[in-house]
Amino acid sequence: MSREELLRSGADPVEAAEETTLRPRSLAEFVGQPRLVEHLEIMLGAAKQRGQSVDHILFAGPPGLGKTSLSGIIAVEMGVNLRITSGPALERAGDLAAILTNLDDGDVLFIDEVHRLPRTVEEVLYPAMEDFQLDIVIGKGPSARSIRLDLPRFTLVGATTRTGLITGPLRDRFGFVARLDFYTPEELVSIITRAAGILGVPLEPEAALECARRSRGTPRIANRLLKRVRDYAEMRGDGTVTLAVAQDALALFEVDELGLDKVDRGILHAICVTFGGGPVGLGTLAAALAEESDTLEDVYEPYLLKHGLLQRTPRGRIATAAAYAHLGLRLPPARAGESALFD
Ligand SMILES: Nc1ncnc2c1ncn2[C@@H]1O[C@H](COP(=O)(O)OP(=O)(O)OP(=O)(O)O)[C@@H](O)[C@H]1O
Ligand SMILES: [Mg+2]
Repeated sequence: MSREELLRSGADPVEAAEETTLRPRSLAEFVGQPRLVEHLEIMLGAAKQRGQSVDHILFAGPPGLGKTSLSGIIAVEMGVNLRITSGPALERAGDLAAILTNLDDGDVLFIDEVHRLPRTVEEVLYPAMEDFQLDIVIGKGPSARSIRLDLPRFTLVGATTRTGLITGPLRDRFGFVARLDFYTPEELVSIITRAAGILGVPLEPEAALECARRSRGTPRIANRLLKRVRDYAEMRGDGTVTLAVAQDALALFEVDELGLDKVDRGILHAICVTFGGGPVGLGTLAAALAEESDTLEDVYEPYLLKHGLLQRTPRGRIATAAAYAHLGLRLPPARAGESALFD
């Protein structure tokens, strides 16, 4: 498995199990996203006081920012069961009907990648979310009849990496749409420090800050960097993660000062060099890098955009002067005036 994969995916079972142990279990343990946390505290508190289920909630944001963690926290805070599924796993309307009819009052149903629900399944969800009713068709042909079942008052929590792909009718049925933002280095320091405590990794504060700065504002990457740096400290040092150990390890893993890895730099390099700074269409860029367009758009671009290294225009992606500077490349003469903006 490549380093990129280790950093980005939860495919490795050991990593996935560790990720579960590192998940915050209550709002109090959840670091960062202060406005969102306050909003949730109020929503959950009020629902509890009234003895009702919580309104449906949609979490949107790049991978690894805590959407799955928050769905678990909602269930724990409300003292109800959590049922987890995902858009692509619900192939037929019957799959969803089976899950819905097995819920108890107040239960949280978490649908990850809710933008990938098939249309026919999504249509079953509308009356379920709105009126807690399920319409099912029994039989076939002329004798077919439709019956309506009452469902328990459940809470749907949806997660998506792209709000743009959620259909209007589905989006409108969520009582609260919450966007997760990238975390600050300070927030990531507390996340890494907490994780080091749980995993029993001796970690010096300067090393925590170094890892935090290079985590692309993403808790999942912060925790993964911590684990890779721990490995390095055990093999090349005395097991303690000092600043020097962290820096050496991150240099070996090719995670740079901004937290960009080889793929990120490859994207910027392709735009700057192969495509003369852009604009270049997403599909062309993806083909040149042998990556999926979706992966570029969901996983890599948000952070590059946020850091002003990349711009999206109607004609395609453009590398900014900051991108040239970060790669140590000269701006093309035609764009020489732009660098002044970043000095
Ligand atoms: N606010 C937080 N405080 C502490 N740890 C966090 C926080 N958010 C995320 N984490 C850590 O990051 C890991 C990834 O979070 P989570 O799985 O909830 O992200 P996600 O948004 O669901 O990602 P994906 O979109 O890839 O499914 C968790 O295991 C947890 O350890
Ligand atoms: Mg998740």
